[in-house]
Amino acid sequence: MSELLEKARSYEAKKIAATDKESKPLFHISAPAGWINDPNGFSVYNGKIHLFYQYYPYLREWGPMHWGHSTTSDMIKWEQLPCVLAPDEEYDKKGCFSGSAIEADGKHVLVYTGVTRIKLPDGSEQERQNQCIAFGDGLNYVKHENNPVVTGDMLPENCSRIDFRDPKIWKEDDTYYLIVGSKDLNNVGQVVLCSSKNLTDWQFETILAANSTGKIGTMWECPDFFTLNGKRVLMFSPQGMQAAGFSNRNLFQSGYLIGEWQPGQRFIRHGEFREMDNGHDFYAPQSFATPDGRRIVIGWLDMWESPLPEQQDGWAGMLSLPRELSLSADDRLQMRPAKEVESLRGAWFPWPVSTLNNQQTTMVDNCEAMEVNLRWDCARSSAEQYGLRFGDGLRIYVDAQQQRLVLERHYPQYGLCGTRSVPLTAGADLNLRIFFDSSSVEVFVNDGEACLSSRIYPQAPRRELALFAWSGSAALTEAGAWQLE
Ligand code: FRU
Repeated sequence: MSELLEKARSYEAKKIAATDKESKPLFHISAPAGWINDPNGFSVYNGKIHLFYQYYPYLREWGPMHWGHSTTSDMIKWEQLPCVLAPDEEYDKKGCFSGSAIEADGKHVLVYTGVTRIKLPDGSEQERQNQCIAFGDGLNYVKHENNPVVTGDMLPENCSRIDFRDPKIWKEDDTYYLIVGSKDLNNVGQVVLCSSKNLTDWQFETILAANSTGKIGTMWECPDFFTLNGKRVLMFSPQGMQAAGFSNRNLFQSGYLIGEWQPGQRFIRHGEFREMDNGHDFYAPQSFATPDGRRIVIGWLDMWESPLPEQQDGWAGMLSLPRELSLSADDRLQMRPAKEVESLRGAWFPWPVSTLNNQQTTMVDNCEAMEVNLRWDCARSSAEQYGLRFGDGLRIYVDAQQQRLVLERHYPQYGLCGTRSVPLTAGADLNLRIFFDSSSVEVFVNDGEACLSSRIYPQAPRRELALFAWSGSAALTEAGAWQLE
């Protein structure tokens, strides 16, 4: 083991023991020490589920990336394992960036981006991002002697060698495929496809997909590619998209294209790019297939360049709940909490309320870890605004005039104020499953139709949950909350 990895492991062990758990999420993965961002290497190995993440153990800020590591058998109870990758080689000395994992011949194979710097002929330095692999046993990983195994030199001339990262690996028939986020020299975001028969010798196949319409960003990060209902889903996180109306409001987006693909060909896309989650904080999602055939995704529950108030408490960064993906009849990606999430449920508290009339009513005095279930009968609701308020800083409500479900957060002390919203179908029932953890909320709308995920920073002791309806009345056909344990 390198000195750098040993140092990171012993630092992290000490830090975990000393970290104040009070402000940490109760049922989500969060930084064991220091900083985390993207989920990486979501995979099954030796019958266990493994999840890694971008990690800088030493500071609550982004730094030279390591890979942190957790395992689980149910995606709910996670065991913290020692971190596995440190930037300890010349070819990854600036960081072990995002990547993925696969089980092959009894080994657990990690594929990641090694970031380094090279000297140009004029003496100046420039960054290079290349793809590297490491083989392991679920605990310790050895970087391959011929790393990097996929370099920018293998790409067509007009592809960036600087922005070439986040490999996602999968196997189809007897071939391993790798897609890598990229852009061309005109700042057009794209995804590059490579293939290999043995995991160590790779060849460039094609530009799988690109921002050919000019609307989908300048650099595509963290691509993922899988099949749902016989259709191919290309999920990725484009940088540089323009906000348009209610869409693309965050600095960066994460979303998908649906289409067709055959080995040896480019991806044929059907329809537009769509965001996966309309909240303030959901980025760089990665998926894997469970042994029972479900496609589960986890995202980073934060956004680049957004304030992270938890830094005051000594940590930064958390991941979303595991979510099951499916495709609707009209080819929309749907996300529901993975069924394992129900195992968190403790006592059920029905809320004795069926109509609200120009009023606000407190339902819970101190909401820490809860799943709130609400079914609004919109056809029988006349109020202009009705919904749920949490403490002083969060409202999740129907704006009847705009026909939208709005998530509004208001934490001016942190500079985190603003709304995100999704359209509603007029007159239809509105069903919400809302998960509260100590500093996050995830709202699942109409059983997969939409999702809004945001970080929230309620000021203790203002953690009460109230229902409200203003300028009219609102009808509920179901209301209550599960205590989560
Ligand atoms: C996405 C990302 C990736 C990169 C990683 C670095 O959030 O920017 O493209 O590999 O984070 O930590």
